[in-house]
Amino acid sequence: MQPKASVRLRTMAIANLLSVFLVMEIIASGFRFGANGLSMNYYIMNCPFVDPIVKNTVQRALQSDPTLAAGLVRMHFHDCFIEGCDGSVLIDSTKGNTAEKDSPANLSLRGYEVIDDIKDQLEDQCPGVVSCADIVAMAARDAVFFAGGPFYDIPKGRMDGRRSKIEDTINLPFPTFNASELIRAFGQRGFSVQEMVALSGAHTLGAARCASFKQRLTSPDPTLDSSFAQTLSKTCSAGDNAEQPFDVTRNTFDNVYFNSLVRKNGLLFSDQTLYATAKTKGIVNGYAMNQAMFFLDFQQAMVKMGTLGVKDGSTGEVRVDCRKIN
Ligand code: HEM
Ligand SMILES: *[C@@H]1O[C@H](CO)[C@@H](O)[C@H](O)[C@H]1NC(C)=O
Ligand SMILES: *[C@@H]1O[C@H](CO)[C@@H](O)[C@H](O)[C@H]1NC(C)=O
Repeated sequence: MQPKASVRLRTMAIANLLSVFLVMEIIASGFRFGANGLSMNYYIMNCPFVDPIVKNTVQRALQSDPTLAAGLVRMHFHDCFIEGCDGSVLIDSTKGNTAEKDSPANLSLRGYEVIDDIKDQLEDQCPGVVSCADIVAMAARDAVFFAGGPFYDIPKGRMDGRRSKIEDTINLPFPTFNASELIRAFGQRGFSVQEMVALSGAHTLGAARCASFKQRLTSPDPTLDSSFAQTLSKTCSAGDNAEQPFDVTRNTFDNVYFNSLVRKNGLLFSDQTLYATAKTKGIVNGYAMNQAMFFLDFQQAMVKMGTLGVKDGSTGEVRVDCRKIN
């Protein structure tokens, strides 16, 4: 009697423990696989070295050309805002199809070679496993980090799309947008006003060409500092393709961009409007005063941006060559 009962008790205890583990496992896997099918350790079995390969390649690329950080971050934005984060921005035009990248709105996208380099290494290590869309998302993440910004991990498992059309790029926000238009454009994709301002903070990296801001110089603009206006005119005297950095630390991810807006030194109309509009001015002031708050909001908004319109195995594929559909 005695031993039998204790055996049963022990069996029950083990069964209970097992069911606790089972529940924990379900909770954990629910956590790992979000509603969009992405997960943090998506490649852990099939391509465990994906992270170090991306990191090292981005780091090496930035060491030889620090301006590429901006290119990689912007590439991820353009990818996600058109057709979802599906690598459509990487597709080359063909005889029958003019791709996104040949739109005037490709506005000097850069960093394609870095993505190709990463893809080549991954195809050696684990052929046909890692999508180009994930590579773009991871490269943007690592570019932010190596430029001095926050490190954030991202879920993976995006599939590559099969569509890339020049006409879709009309859906990108224009540099002439005012705050309400920006709020609407980002709101349509599920972003709050604060997330839109945080994402605009990506303009702490990189530069714009005169073509993107020269219309600001044609009439007096009270939101534009007059000596900064002179600097811009001087830049534009070298032509439409002359570059002006967004802020004085163009290769460093910091909150100097927001401080520039406070001093009326915003480069694009769509930058300065964030300080000129009551709804967004307070957020700009907050980020200008508190870099840690900007970093936190930025990384959360980037993770969210990285889930836009994600495709699964039925709507996408893992491209073998990032520049063409399989
Ligand atoms: C808020 C709406 C936005 C507008 C209207 C906008 C527009 C632009 C324009 C016109 C340029 C300059 C292109 C050129 O003249 O060559 C630019 C550059 C850039 N954008 Fe945006 N952008 C926006 C949001 C974003 C977001 C959300 C990100 C990333 C999360 C981003 C990242 C960048 C970066 C890093 C550059 C510099 C690129 C380089 O130096 O190569 N932008 N953007
Ligand atoms: C961007 O588009 C222009 C045409 O508007 C094209 O000449 C240029 O090669 C494109 N740039 C890239 C990097 O694809
Ligand atoms: C923003 O632009 C839209 C469309 O051009 C215009 O209707 C609206 O009045 C503008 N808002 C402000 C505050 O200037």
